[in-house]
Amino acid sequence: MTAADVITAWDRADPDAIHPLRRVSEAAYWESGQVQADMLASVIPGGAKVLDFGCGDGRVATPMAALGYAVTAVDSSQRMLDRLTDRALDVTTVQADADGIARHLGRRRMDAVYALAVLIHHSWTDCLHIIGRLRAATKLGGILVLDWPLSQTPEEADSWIGVTTWSRQQQDDACQRIGLEPVDSGLPWGVYRAVKAGG
Ligand SMILES: C[S@@+](CC[C@H](N)C(=O)[O-])C[C@H]1O[C@@H](n2cnc3c(N)ncnc32)[C@H](O)[C@@H]1O
Repeated sequence: MTAADVITAWDRADPDAIHPLRRVSEAAYWESGQVQADMLASVIPGGAKVLDFGCGDGRVATPMAALGYAVTAVDSSQRMLDRLTDRALDVTTVQADADGIARHLGRRRMDAVYALAVLIHHSWTDCLHIIGRLRAATKLGGILVLDWPLSQTPEEADSWIGVTTWSRQQQDDACQRIGLEPVDSGLPWGVYRAVKAGG
């Protein structure tokens, strides 16, 4: 799957595909976003300018804004962003892929960036490209939270809804090259501080 294939598939996807809890109930779906926003708040300083990459219809971006973060929600799918805007007027929305973020930010940098259930659908090469763009959007010393799963038997997703997994060595090499320093957090995602690349 190329990034373009993943983007096209998600733009056409039924909103039910975003999270398994949506098939349980709308309440359970939004509650899961609140729980994950509270988890993010344990590593992202209050009031920070945060970028939610691949925000979908705002499952996590909406409660993040309610917690007082200044949220910029980025998604390649305008349909997803329209659903988000229906619920959360105080979230800035940007229709873009990872390459479009720099156009929106200009010289500004975010205090924190998170990407949940997005990188997992991309190939190793595309994922590394996206993480590089997310790192470039983050100020030095800022926080990145990446849903970037490890496995003893890493493999690439074979469909837009599949999951790509990584070896520890692949991730360590990528962190060094891109400028990410792992942070101990207890969260089920990778948490990193933005540092100079190769440092
Ligand atoms: C599984 S949904 C997750 C939504 C949200 N992060 C959540 O956890 O509820 C994946 C979202 O990422 C977006 N997406 C996937 N690949 C993308 C890319 N390369 N650039 C921008 N958005 C992307 C899709 O349009 C979709 O809205």
